[in-house]
Amino acid sequence: MSRPSCWVALAAACCVVVLAGAGVSTPTVIEADTVGRKISIEGDDFMLDGQPFRIRSGEVHYFRTPAAYWPDRLRMVKAAGLNAVATYVEWMFHEGVERQYRWDGDRDLARFVSLAQQQGLLVLLRPGPYICAERDLGGLPYWLMGKYPDIKLRTLQPEFMSESTIWFNELFKQVKPLLYGNGGPIILVQVENEYGSYGSDHAYMNAMRALLHSHVGDHALLYTTDGFSRNFFTRGYADGALTTVDFGVTSSPVKNAFKDLREFRPVGPLMNSEFYPGWLTHWGEGFQRVATAPVVATLDDMLRTNASFNFYMFHGGTNFDFTAGANYGPTYQPDITSYDYDAPLTEAGDPTDKYYAIRSTIEKYYPQVRDIHLPLASSKAGYGSVPVVAKLQLLSSEGRTALGKKETVEGSSLPTFEQLRQWAGLVLYETTVHTDSGDVEDTRLLSIAKPRDRIYVYVNGVLKGILSRMHNILSIPLVVKNNTVLSLLVENQGRINFGDKLHDKKGILSPVLLANKVLNGTWEVTGFPLENVDVTGHDNPESTDRGPVLYEGAFTLPNNTQLLDTYVNPTGWGKGYIWINGHNLGRYWPREGPQVTLYVPGVWLQPPPAANRLQILELEAAAPGLDVTFVDTPILG
Ligand SMILES: *[C@@H]1O[C@H](CO)[C@@H](O)[C@H](O)[C@H]1NC(C)=O
Ligand SMILES: *[C@@H]1O[C@H](CO)[C@@H](O)[C@H](O)[C@H]1NC(C)=O
Ligand SMILES: *[C@@H]1O[C@H](CO)[C@@H](O)[C@H](O)[C@H]1NC(C)=O
Ligand SMILES: *[C@@H]1O[C@H](CO)[C@@H](O)[C@H](O)[C@H]1NC(C)=O
Repeated sequence: MSRPSCWVALAAACCVVVLAGAGVSTPTVIEADTVGRKISIEGDDFMLDGQPFRIRSGEVHYFRTPAAYWPDRLRMVKAAGLNAVATYVEWMFHEGVERQYRWDGDRDLARFVSLAQQQGLLVLLRPGPYICAERDLGGLPYWLMGKYPDIKLRTLQPEFMSESTIWFNELFKQVKPLLYGNGGPIILVQVENEYGSYGSDHAYMNAMRALLHSHVGDHALLYTTDGFSRNFFTRGYADGALTTVDFGVTSSPVKNAFKDLREFRPVGPLMNSEFYPGWLTHWGEGFQRVATAPVVATLDDMLRTNASFNFYMFHGGTNFDFTAGANYGPTYQPDITSYDYDAPLTEAGDPTDKYYAIRSTIEKYYPQVRDIHLPLASSKAGYGSVPVVAKLQLLSSEGRTALGKKETVEGSSLPTFEQLRQWAGLVLYETTVHTDSGDVEDTRLLSIAKPRDRIYVYVNGVLKGILSRMHNILSIPLVVKNNTVLSLLVENQGRINFGDKLHDKKGILSPVLLANKVLNGTWEVTGFPLENVDVTGHDNPESTDRGPVLYEGAFTLPNNTQLLDTYVNPTGWGKGYIWINGHNLGRYWPREGPQVTLYVPGVWLQPPPAANRLQILELEAAAPGLDVTFVDTPILG
């Protein structure tokens, strides 16, 4: 692999028998009859109930698509000629607060798996516990780093293993009945995730494998996913789990990509468990695209040579809320909100030319696919321009009361987001500067070696500049005098999800220096988690040039309209977050790009005559016209 890859894909079980004559309109419900249900390996084949079969899978993450759309997305997977769906399980999504488990609504994993089964799809489950997936901290709960400041994620360290054990106990209460041998569709369960790109401790991988095996038994197969060259999977394999590899389009025959694996494991099914038909995108780079022709050429080669595969992603969806992660290349690289991924299905779940080309290729080998109704894109709506008004200045005393939580600390070491038990949003650190120059102003350099990640710097309430980890801006000259109030508003732009900088705590991780002197007096720390931005009853729109402002507007959809998907276009705005009816659509940053519009699922809108509530927290500068436009076409760059 030319670059580190971190998403894993799974393969789908393909069974000619399941596909025969199956139309999307009549989903096959597999009865919970466990007699003879068995997934196993014989020679180079997966065996399903004693018959050889190959996995043709597409990855769809339930946590990136509203639950109301799951049936549609799964139907699309099936109609492409695939026989399985793969999903990661995101620990943080279910245990965002320690020991408070959530399995409702968009978090109802068991429902997602059951819907796949109703669609006649098998399931590849990828529970990690680390998943990467371009999600904050690779899907691990951020609070682990608050509870155990010295935690070593993805190791045998007792703290990490015991937390993982507790989590898997909860997870398998949900999914155990859905394992294949128990009557469900889950045929494969992945152990860890591309561990060979991270470490080489076989005792850890074997412990994770044992932990999963204690839940899975022989009711499904365990497997690992790693890069396709030897140095990855020889570090990442686990005893007793099938080794699979991941790769994107290849210019040489697929056989060559499996060559190292074949030498390592002379017998066993070959599976490309993350086949990349697209790629992820970071803020500040071009939107990543993968051309269709080489995707179908590689696909054709895998089908011809009987390899199993899983498209990663088949439908990417969206990093709603503050769930997007980051990579660390030459520098910190936060991921965009959209996870469109240039996948066969768009962010909104619509088939693309790539989708149809994939289906046509699969049809050559599985002609029954032709009997499945060809799916079309759904309609989108452009609802036009919506005006907003300033509602609340975040750093005003009213704003702090409505949305903040304050504490006071002494010294040079500032509490991190993790210590404050705050997942995301903003934290404000404030101190009064004492200088020996009394009332005489002079210029002094503010420097912070480890900003995590973007720091808005205010002097006596007025914005003076921005420090940025991403852009490597670590100092700024400030004009100060004795008793100047210095306010540092820190934005968490997403925790790193891949590689050796995984333990990515947020806040200010190094002393704050002014003219090389440590500011070690009294600090007031105010957290703004922004998990709920209902500010009804608060109103303080003044001084909009002094820090973030929450803007609000309302709009009513036209009569006789369906609740169609739309996109909000914040062109002209600076940087921030947008909520529709309380749903956080994610981060916007059109000036940085490449993503401009944010996806709005129609299911989150209210039908007329109800009003829809629009909220924008703008960190930098509102658009002069104080409006945003709802358009029917995404602009991703
Ligand atoms: C693929 O499998 C089929 C039987 O399912 C077999 O006829 C064919 O020879 C296999 N092709 C390769 C390249 O192994
Ligand atoms: C700076 O301000 C503090 C608090 O008001 C005061 O105690 C101190 O004497 C002042 N220092 C100078 C040099 O003016
Ligand atoms: C702050 O730093 C100064 C200079 O290094 C030192 O004299 C002072 O004791 C420190 N104060 C605290 C509270 O640590
Ligand atoms: C929409 O329908 C409501 C209720 O029937 C009506 O009061 C309203 O005037 C209609 N709005 C438009 C724009 O036609």
